[in-house]
Amino acid sequence: MVTNHKHVFDKKDRPLRDLRISVTDRCNLRCTYCMPAEIFGRDHLFLPKSELLSFEELERLAHLFVKTFGVEKIRITGGEPLMRKDMPDLIKKLSYIPGLYDIAMTTNGLLLPVYAEKLKKAGLKRVTISLDSLNDERFKAINGRGVSVSKVLAGIEAAKQVGLGVKINMVVQKGVNETDILPMARYFKEKGEILRFIEFMDVGNTNEWKKQSVITKADIIKIFNQELPIEELEPNYKGEVAQRFRYRDGVGEVGFISSVSDAFCGTCNRARLSAKGELFTCLFASTGFDLRALLRSGQSDQEIEEAIHTVWQNRDDQYSLDRTHSKTISKNKVEMSYIGG
Ligand code: GTP
Ligand code: 5AD
Ligand code: SF4
Ligand code: SF4
Repeated sequence: MVTNHKHVFDKKDRPLRDLRISVTDRCNLRCTYCMPAEIFGRDHLFLPKSELLSFEELERLAHLFVKTFGVEKIRITGGEPLMRKDMPDLIKKLSYIPGLYDIAMTTNGLLLPVYAEKLKKAGLKRVTISLDSLNDERFKAINGRGVSVSKVLAGIEAAKQVGLGVKINMVVQKGVNETDILPMARYFKEKGEILRFIEFMDVGNTNEWKKQSVITKADIIKIFNQELPIEELEPNYKGEVAQRFRYRDGVGEVGFISSVSDAFCGTCNRARLSAKGELFTCLFASTGFDLRALLRSGQSDQEIEEAIHTVWQNRDDQYSLDRTHSKTISKNKVEMSYIGG
């Protein structure tokens, strides 16, 4: 196939391949590691609707990323993306973009019983659902809103019923939920779902991250090998975030997202768009480039493409690697609920 994509590479020779779009900074949970309830309380000011990119603006930008730069995969994130009204309408608009092969969503799953069918019909392919424990008491404490495990399981079931691809994300923290690792593994092995363990990250400035609170990939592999031995698999694609493993008995797969103990910045090809239209080139950045200003001042597609091109060409972010090498790192990072996971 002949394409006329202007493939663009950053200062470390990494292409732009993957776009992650945050559609809202709101969430119906208050996970302690992401939006601690003490900080994201009643008086927290979320973005007003006028500040958010409209679905038409999002569609225009997504189209440019796909057509011009050859992005093939878009992931919708938040906050909680299903807090934004009419999400199936956005998915439908994106599904018409030629060359966009994969539309996925990262969600806490609570609203999937309401929306799964509409999302699937609109063209969503996959969901990644966050669940940190099967123990109600611990899950309620972690999610900060006293929501039961059964609500998330109902969301997972709804997604499966309509044929959406499903993966599960579990953030593991020392002293919080490490005893849940094997019960979660057994449960999702049995169900046939891929469970991924995410190392607790120092994203944002509010979650009181400490290196001592991290349970690393190596710690978890050790726990597995005592009871449920696993072995490493090849990545599905270059730059895959999760490192894949399968059970030695041949049934089931797990993944590790080891941003702290084994940084994967070397192959990072991900651009992020905040809910108000800023282009971020790293999850740990402090500022993004204001694409909304270009959209709302009547700039042409070509002018917007040139801006994106320049931002990517100037990119040299590698926050996790710098953290590994104890380089001085920013204390003014954007919050995960604002930029998406
Ligand atoms: P697939 O398309 O299924 O491979 O999904 P994915 O692993 O790209 O997406 P998902 O949203 O499930 O990512 C899992 C989690 O990994 C995110 O929620 C983040 O916590 C983390 N993550 C994703 N990308 C990055 C990244 O570029 N840097 C860091 N440090 N963490 C990331
Ligand atoms: N560390 C690791 N993962 C996080 N997530 C949110 N905050 C953190 C953090 N501090 C994960 C959520 C969800 C995705 C959006 O990102 O669990 O799976
Ligand atoms: Fe909401 Fe997800 Fe953040 Fe939890 S991790 S507060 S569900 S955005
Ligand atoms: Fe990419 Fe930044 Fe994550 Fe490194 S820390 S993998 S550069 S988003």
